Amino acid sequence: MSGAILAIETSCDDSCAAVVDASGLILSNVIASQSIHDKYGGVVPEIAARHHLHLLTPTIDAALSDAGLTLDLIERVAVTQGPGLIGALLVGVAQAKAIAAARGVPLVAVDHLQGHVAANFLGPDPFEPPFVCLIASGGHTLLARVEEQSSYTVLGETLDDAAGEAFDKGARMLGLPFPGGPALEALAGDGDPEAFDFPTARNVKGFDFSFAGVKTSLLYAIADLGEAESQLRRADLAASYQKAIVDALIDRLDRALSASGLGRVAIGGGVAANGPLRQRVSELGAETHIPAMKLCTDNAAMIAGAARFLPDCSTEAALALDAYPSGSKR
Ligand code: KG4
Ligand code: ZN
Repeated sequence: MSGAILAIETSCDDSCAAVVDASGLILSNVIASQSIHDKYGGVVPEIAARHHLHLLTPTIDAALSDAGLTLDLIERVAVTQGPGLIGALLVGVAQAKAIAAARGVPLVAVDHLQGHVAANFLGPDPFEPPFVCLIASGGHTLLARVEEQSSYTVLGETLDDAAGEAFDKGARMLGLPFPGGPALEALAGDGDPEAFDFPTARNVKGFDFSFAGVKTSLLYAIADLGEAESQLRRADLAASYQKAIVDALIDRLDRALSASGLGRVAIGGGVAANGPLRQRVSELGAETHIPAMKLCTDNAAMIAGAARFLPDCSTEAALALDAYPSGSKR
């Protein structure tokens, strides 16, 4: 096995480990989800970090075993350095440093968003740059121009909530369980997307996003209708709310695509599971790539996918590697 990369991802509430070979083929991709957060209606950072401590070692063992490899055959170790929950990230970074140091192999530090973009570079059907990429998850909303595998240029970001966060918060207002995106999409299937006119923040300049307004509009619509009526019209509220979020994403994506002249688009992140969003992306008239669902949501294969094109840390930098909670070290 030449060039096998063991990757670790612990930026939020999923303990993830994967093995990817030098050509980008996924040999294993294991995700241990911490469903404990559901009962709190959102991820509790301290609980996430503590669960990573328990889950990460067996997850790495499972990834090695699924790949049919032992640690002796791993040639590089990659880890998510940030952004994410700092306590959660530190568990992964400490584990990756320890494995790399003990085995005497190089460590590669990967930015989580670079990982989401790099999900598109994994085999057996890699999507080559250049393309415009939309990453929409519970923590991030990013529109990027990708010219090469090792970096991207930010075209737009959210000024407040992430798109997935807007789905989750709207779902909570409608009495749906966490994570709200899939539940809201299911409820919206029975509703009229034109019933309510929720804002899509078209006044925001450039390719940036804002989801605070649509969230507040839903809150006011529910209050104006009153409890009984809003209960009766839940499906219409969900359908109109979903439409506003998808419209906002598609509006920026469409404009960025036209401005880029590239005619190629990829999407990723948990919100890429949304049926109406996928449908609208496929209607943009561009060459489109959507990674498999398991590669859109948080996973370690995408971190290995990014590491393939990134330099190793020096021995000193590997030992001193720290996590960062926000921003980017690109
Ligand atoms: O990428 P991901 O698994 O984790 C983060 O990095 O956040 O994304 C999770 C987000 C959640 O906000 C969830 O509600 C949203 O993706 N999501 C969806 C759907 N499935 C997951 N949003 C809308 N429609 C869906 N079908
Ligand atoms: Zn993510």
